[in-house]
Amino acid sequence: MSETNMKASNYDLGYRILHWLMAILILLMLLAVMGFASVTNNQEHMEMLMGHSSLGTLVGLFLILRIFKRFIKKSPIPEQDLPKLQQRVAKTVQYALYGLMVWIPVTGYLTARFHELPVMAFGRFNLSNASQTMYNPELFDALRLGHEIGTKLIMVLLVLHIGGAFYHKLVKKDQVMRSMTGSK
Ligand code: HEM
Repeated sequence: MSETNMKASNYDLGYRILHWLMAILILLMLLAVMGFASVTNNQEHMEMLMGHSSLGTLVGLFLILRIFKRFIKKSPIPEQDLPKLQQRVAKTVQYALYGLMVWIPVTGYLTARFHELPVMAFGRFNLSNASQTMYNPELFDALRLGHEIGTKLIMVLLVLHIGGAFYHKLVKKDQVMRSMTGSK
């Protein structure tokens, strides 16, 4: 496909803001693997949970806006003039990313709900209900595992997604990356 054939339209400002805000937040959240592994006592653990659940809730709220814009309001997205197979792979990765962006906050919220420690989102709202109900370690472990597997899968997809973006920028030198950075 010749590069001069490419259509030049970009994602609109709303898409770009949501994309980059969520990208930064999700990358920060993925550092939780190291954070949770390094806690040495309950106090540190609760502080980690507070930061993590607060940022995670923000990701969830931005995600609702993004799903609304993309699938309900159907704000137009740029059409890339790419071979069919490449378009299909990119779309599959994008939809899988959307699926995981829903799965991870939902399982995160449920993990928090069944956590034995208080999970104080924004320092104010205790998401954990374990003190009122029977603490169920098996259920907690299953939910946490579901959350963890989601985060591992999203890491693999992000490598493909980011790798794809740089392939377009550095090898194909087309406008795919620019459509999300907004540069001319
Ligand atoms: C939105 C993106 C999110 C990402 C990328 C993410 C990532 C992670 C990661 C990497 C871990 C550690 C897993 C491991 O040890 O391997 C974790 C644990 C956890 N996450 Fe999330 N998370 C997200 C959202 C949320 C949300 C929205 C909540 C709750 C409101 C939440 C609650 C938790 C809880 C309770 C744990 C278990 C911590 C513990 O073991 O005490 N997460 N998350």
